[in-house]
Amino acid sequence: MTIQEKYKLNGSLNISGDKSISHRSVIMGAMSIGQTKIHNLLESQDIMSTINILRKLGVKIKKRNGVWIINGVGTCGFKQPNQKLDAGNSGTTSRLIFGAVATNPIKTLFTGDKSLSARPMSRITNFLEDIGAKIILTKKNYLPISIQGTQNSLPLKHTITKPSAQIKSSLMLAAINIAGQTTIIEKQATRDHTEIMFKYLGIKFKKKTFKNGTTQIIIDGPKEILAKNIHVASDPSSAAFFIVGALITPGSNIEIKNVCLNNTRVAYIEILRKMGGNITVKKIGKLSGESIGNIKVKYSKLKSIEISKKLAPYLIDEYPIIAIAASQAKGVTKMKGLSELRYKESDRLKSINKNLIASKIDSLIRNDDLIIKGSDKSLLGNNKITTYHDHRIAMSFSILNLICKKPLKIDDLRCIQISYPRFKQDLKSLLKND
Ligand code: S3P
Repeated sequence: MTIQEKYKLNGSLNISGDKSISHRSVIMGAMSIGQTKIHNLLESQDIMSTINILRKLGVKIKKRNGVWIINGVGTCGFKQPNQKLDAGNSGTTSRLIFGAVATNPIKTLFTGDKSLSARPMSRITNFLEDIGAKIILTKKNYLPISIQGTQNSLPLKHTITKPSAQIKSSLMLAAINIAGQTTIIEKQATRDHTEIMFKYLGIKFKKKTFKNGTTQIIIDGPKEILAKNIHVASDPSSAAFFIVGALITPGSNIEIKNVCLNNTRVAYIEILRKMGGNITVKKIGKLSGESIGNIKVKYSKLKSIEISKKLAPYLIDEYPIIAIAASQAKGVTKMKGLSELRYKESDRLKSINKNLIASKIDSLIRNDDLIIKGSDKSLLGNNKITTYHDHRIAMSFSILNLICKKPLKIDDLRCIQISYPRFKQDLKSLLKND
């Protein structure tokens, strides 16, 4: 009997807090004046990396009755650490905190694990050098990185050509501690959680979106942040695994509740709908400035799709799981312009493609495009999956595993702790015997 015949996904689920919002709530809590209480904070390895670094920078952080309490030190109150700051696997931790410390008169040394140490950092440190921080990178682009921050940072106009919310957010966190006007131009808009949290916390800024898609943010600093409690909405990127799981596993019918429905994060729902997915979204309100709602999903026969390059910043974390959906969709799916995927926790373009091929699915990379030929033939499974210590690869192929005759041999499931420690438990709670 196949796993597919034996199980379906059924029931309703509340998943853990959003990773992007969790990082920002802890960092901005640390930069506030007063005490911030954070509810539904994601307690994953990446967020613990952020918390541990902030503690080394002199911020008091504790957990009481399930609520995280941050005693803010203000935008310029970080203490000189006497140890290196280890960002672990987390790009968001390192890049956002670079911006926060660059305007403090302290010297910091950032390190990371093997994967993070291979990811490009000059894309952000170049801007921070422009404002006056003294930065030494390893091989001009990588961790370990030392940053000598300055209180006399320059208010400048920055133009970001790589679509990256991390670069924008790092500069926004620096700008609130710079006297004068900082202008941040993004050639392509990216996720806007930092802007939403600024607004929620009462930090004034101006944002304009031009017809060609360029955005402009102007911050007149310096600003103070007054502490305000934050409720973190559930993670739409984590929800995506179960949504695709339900779409490809016959008989499935699930509901995921209180999910963040931020427009810059849920483009994948529209893509899966266009592929024929039976998905209903009901907005239920707002949580600390972010829209939230419930998502219902039923098993569906999927068809292929062509996904344009323009959508890449809005689908960036969901390509691995969209690829799993594409492998079960009738026809040839083309995902275009995925160059940024090469700089994630692994070279995701390669890791998706290799593991699909290992699973006997037709897949190829042409320039920066990923092309997958779907099939409803049942998958034998039993093949090896190499995660490259990438949490989203591990979770995506755990979902493909649901419809394989024999289990996939995924080499490392521990990396799931990076973003979603409750993944296995939550998946189990939805799995029902037919
Ligand atoms: C994130 C932004 C994205 C995303 C990452 C989280 C953020 O990275 O891939 O998981 O919280 O700002 P880029 O903006 O660098 O693409």
